[in-house]
Amino acid sequence: MEQYLFDTLPDGPFSKLRKLVSGITPKLSLLDMSIGEPKHPFPSFVNQIIVDNMAGFGKYPAALGIEPLLNANANWLNNRFDLNNKIVKDQHISVLNGTREGLFNAALLAIKSNPTVKPLIAIPDPFYQVYAAAAMAGQADILFMPTPQSAGFLPVLEHISDADWQRMAVFYICSPANPQGVFADEAYYKKLIALARKHNFFIFSDECYSEIYSDEAPISALQVALNEGEFKNVISFFSLSKRSSLPGLRSGFCAGDKNFIARFKMMRNIAGAQVPLPLQHVAAAAWSDETHVIDNRNKYNQKFDLVDKILGTMFGYTRPKGGFFLWLDMAEHGGGIKAAQDLWAYCGIKSLPGAYLSNLAAEDDADQTYADPKNETASRYLRLALVGSLSDTEEALNRIVKYYSTVEGAS
Ligand SMILES: Cc1ncc(COP(=O)(O)O)c(C=O)c1O
Repeated sequence: MEQYLFDTLPDGPFSKLRKLVSGITPKLSLLDMSIGEPKHPFPSFVNQIIVDNMAGFGKYPAALGIEPLLNANANWLNNRFDLNNKIVKDQHISVLNGTREGLFNAALLAIKSNPTVKPLIAIPDPFYQVYAAAAMAGQADILFMPTPQSAGFLPVLEHISDADWQRMAVFYICSPANPQGVFADEAYYKKLIALARKHNFFIFSDECYSEIYSDEAPISALQVALNEGEFKNVISFFSLSKRSSLPGLRSGFCAGDKNFIARFKMMRNIAGAQVPLPLQHVAAAAWSDETHVIDNRNKYNQKFDLVDKILGTMFGYTRPKGGFFLWLDMAEHGGGIKAAQDLWAYCGIKSLPGAYLSNLAAEDDADQTYADPKNETASRYLRLALVGSLSDTEEALNRIVKYYSTVEGAS
């Protein structure tokens, strides 16, 4: 039988989840915490800008972005990360139709046309599934990098062999990390950037959660790259989906290494997914406003305050530094897959088993070794997205605590 490039692409996490819970009727009303889809109100200026620019739906959009949007992106980036205005809108920025397609398409520009060895794309595990699809499209080998709690939930750079660094084409990093909410700090980025420059690979730094944080704002890989002289080898990805609760707008951008960006823009000018003109005008306004972002962040922090209060230290919970996920250790309750089934059946809560975000070979196998503390894989964990209202969040947390304290005895 013919074989095609994506034949071995695994089922996505949400279709696995559908299969897992199909046939189980929950005893309580549904509280969906499975998908990281922001649900806070988006900024009030959105509607009017669309109305004012409606005629733009009758035109093909500027593939490389309208001036006001490129200006807004460059200003935001320079201000947010103190980049000394080194980001120049025509050189360092590429507008994206959301970071998802950008993270995918950019990988194609990182693969050499005449590789003497098969390229390698490194992906943190657990991971956002697009990274793996991108590696498959680039016909690269994938290096799944474990992110154990004992290493601060980040890939351990020292565990990667010289041979692997030598054929590395792309190193994906997500900071704040989905799902664990940790940040890569300056020292981490510095080490990684030195390796990227030594072995000439690209760091794709997925920073789409950069504006959702608790106390301290995360730094960008771009800041560290600049401290190390220039943006070379580093591309960071940003989005309005989480920052402005506009996942349906499909607007983001990436920025960094100007030679890479020039090649990327050349390709996107012909084959890129354009953002409709009225939506580019909305995006320009959204990147220029911080009031709604602060309000949005406060809403997440109110929910994390509730989690601190209601969960305390149950399920190994500690408040994440960023992002909007709970990453709960359910090893004592049968692991993430069993917990997702139980929460669905007995609490009406839809959640995502950590295994479904991972490259675990036997993710559907109930016989996981998650109970062994040395097993730090995602199979121990359950991901809950804090995207609902404050009252739904409180209700969900209370149901979880009640279920595990009365049925099993909480950890
Ligand atoms: C880690 C991560 N990266 C990228 C994305 C894509 O976001 P968007 O395409 O909406 O910008 C998501 C969405 O959930 C995500 O969780």
